Amino acid sequence: MDGEKPLIGAIIGGDFFKKPTCAFLSLLFAICALSLLQSSFVYPSSFSPLSYFFPKPAASNTHSFQSLLPVPSGLTCSGFFQEVPRGKTVVSITDFGGVGDGNTSNTEAFRKAIKYLDGFVEKGGSMLVVPEGRYVTGSFNLTSNFTLFLDEGAVILGSQDPKEWPIIEPLPSYGRGRERLGGRHISLIHGNGLTNVVITGRNGSIDGQGRMWWDLWWNRTLERTRGHLVEIMNSHNILISNITLLNSPFWTVHPVYSSNIVIQNVTILAPLNAPNTDGIDPDSCTNVCIEDCYIESGDDLVAVKSGWDQYGIAMARPSSNIIIRRISGTTPTCSGVGIGSEMSGGISNVVVEDLHVRDSAAGIRIKTDKGRGGYITNITITNITMERVKIPLRFSRGANDHPDDGWDPKAIPKVKGVFISNVISVNSTKGPMLHGIENGLFEGICMKNVTLLNLPSSASWHCEFVSGFTEDISPMACPQLQNNHCASWCLYS
Ligand SMILES: *[C@@H]1O[C@H](CO)[C@@H](O)[C@H](O)[C@H]1NC(C)=O
Ligand SMILES: *[C@@H]1O[C@H](CO)[C@@H](O)[C@H](O)[C@H]1NC(C)=O
Ligand SMILES: *[C@@H]1O[C@H](CO)[C@@H](O)[C@H](O)[C@H]1NC(C)=O
Ligand SMILES: *[C@@H]1O[C@H](CO)[C@@H](O)[C@H](O)[C@H]1NC(C)=O
Ligand SMILES: *[C@@H]1O[C@H](CO)[C@@H](O)[C@H](O)[C@H]1NC(C)=O
Ligand SMILES: *[C@@H]1O[C@H](CO)[C@@H](O)[C@H](O)[C@H]1NC(C)=O
Ligand SMILES: *[C@@H]1O[C@H](CO)[C@@H](O)[C@H](O)[C@H]1NC(C)=O
Ligand SMILES: *[C@@H]1O[C@H](CO)[C@@H](O)[C@H](O)[C@H]1NC(C)=O
Ligand SMILES: *[C@@H]1O[C@H](CO)[C@@H](O)[C@H](O)[C@H]1NC(C)=O
Ligand SMILES: *[C@@H]1O[C@H](CO)[C@@H](O)[C@H](O)[C@H]1NC(C)=O
Ligand SMILES: *[C@@H]1O[C@H](CO)[C@@H](O)[C@H](O)[C@H]1NC(C)=O
Repeated sequence: MDGEKPLIGAIIGGDFFKKPTCAFLSLLFAICALSLLQSSFVYPSSFSPLSYFFPKPAASNTHSFQSLLPVPSGLTCSGFFQEVPRGKTVVSITDFGGVGDGNTSNTEAFRKAIKYLDGFVEKGGSMLVVPEGRYVTGSFNLTSNFTLFLDEGAVILGSQDPKEWPIIEPLPSYGRGRERLGGRHISLIHGNGLTNVVITGRNGSIDGQGRMWWDLWWNRTLERTRGHLVEIMNSHNILISNITLLNSPFWTVHPVYSSNIVIQNVTILAPLNAPNTDGIDPDSCTNVCIEDCYIESGDDLVAVKSGWDQYGIAMARPSSNIIIRRISGTTPTCSGVGIGSEMSGGISNVVVEDLHVRDSAAGIRIKTDKGRGGYITNITITNITMERVKIPLRFSRGANDHPDDGWDPKAIPKVKGVFISNVISVNSTKGPMLHGIENGLFEGICMKNVTLLNLPSSASWHCEFVSGFTEDISPMACPQLQNNHCASWCLYS
């Protein structure tokens, strides 16, 4: 979801900070000191992603920004998925009457196949193969100890009949459908309460044929929130790899309330103007690895979320331990990696590295607002390459985007500990825009080695309600990020 609003207050705040007075500096000092005392959020002992895979050496307590240097390539977080033996029972969709002529409905074939394979969950697991062909289907559910294998030239096509995407309950952490009140359309491929599921193949594809849904959105006749292409809920140990996902009606891959999710070597494509076709949105999930994907769509390539305002706060299911690496792509009106805007259950321990974004509105965007509550902490972002990205780094408020009138204006999100290094951006049109929230200073924003090449001479940093430390930044960072006496924040991080 994305909403743009001119940020009028920004300029005023920016002017205030241009001429630091003595009183102002001591205020900053007080803020730093206070922040050091408040220890509800412990700084990371190391923010090297390597610590995920190798135990820390006993005597290395002196981590510094050095540990942010890019890690050797070839590193993988796919270990979040625990290999399980391939299913013993292997069937083809054609065994259940499947016809890949691009016209016949295969809804019954898929549902029958899954019903049959439900019988093998405790008997060695199973695999459903979709051979070459174009298989139109309505929504179907997956099962546990199960592999969906899309062979070369296999295409699953989303039905063009909205009734084949039945309405299900809204997510408790959203309290309603994200776009419309009440229930929401189920995803084309759906999983709920599963363990050990693999969706893979030899570059087979799943095509949501979303145009019908985008039209409903554009012409304002959408009655219920659109369905995802793939949604996995309340599940554990899931792998999605080696396939292509096309034309999702709404967010493409939506793992929610789930753990140990690996999404590797997946291509996601949707028209660049297709509304809300986010690539991958881990939402209230832990241990998520997203790597080696190419994504091109009408919304964020990857967006980390955790529920919406009072519903997300009440559910309190954070997103944590998320690794996003070697992702490349483009999204003209949105961001490479977004954090939020729905983040009310909290988001922590996120690593974004080796990201390559081109021709997009933003590279990295943290988006939250009053009413969200929750927190965003310990976010490490390193080795980001951008070409023709309008605003390379952006922190911003939402656009008065709340589920209903029950949101709490006093629920101010806490943003603390964002470590950004080794960023190179060529031909951005604006400088970084970093806007915290009034009475909700974003603190511990640390940046090192950020180079913005070929910026228009009028472009500069715009900062408001943020504080932190920077080193080796070009052009020079805003004064709010030059609190050198707070540098120890970053050194211990
Ligand atoms: C911060 O995140 C990194 C990587 O996500 C993790 O290794 C580290 O333990 C985290 N620190 C804390 C204090 O949670
Ligand atoms: C497509 O399927 C419909 C019924 O579902 C049928 O009327 C039509 O003849 C089929 N078209 C082709 C080209 O097979
Ligand atoms: C899946 O298979 C494993 C053995 O491979 C078994 O322990 C487990 O109970 C099965 N069922 C589910 C739902 O995971
Ligand atoms: C799929 O699972 C959902 C629950 O998550 C359920 O509402 C729906 O009826 C199931 N669909 C089928 C075809 O079994
Ligand atoms: C990625 O997936 C494609 C098929 O979609 C496959 O040809 C290729 O070998 C895979 N690459 C890796 C590194 O697994
Ligand atoms: C996979 O298929 C998609 C579309 O079907 C295509 O665009 C892409 O180039 C293919 N990738 C590989 C590695 O074959
Ligand atoms: C809106 O789009 C849908 C789907 O394409 C179409 O069926 C409907 O006629 C359109 N309504 C208007 C008012 O254009
Ligand atoms: C992807 O495909 C490649 C080539 O077939 C294979 O080596 C690799 O194991 C597959 N990866 C996954 C995670 O399925
Ligand atoms: C930085 O990321 C790019 C991909 O955008 C990758 O090709 C390069 O190897 C990475 N650099 C390092 C030092 O890891
Ligand atoms: C600064 O970042 C760039 C882009 O990632 C990288 O190529 C360069 O090696 C980095 N410099 C230092 C001193 O780390
Ligand atoms: C950046 O813009 C200049 C023109 O101002 C152009 O010559 C150059 O090719 C552009 N580079 C990229 C990577 O877009």
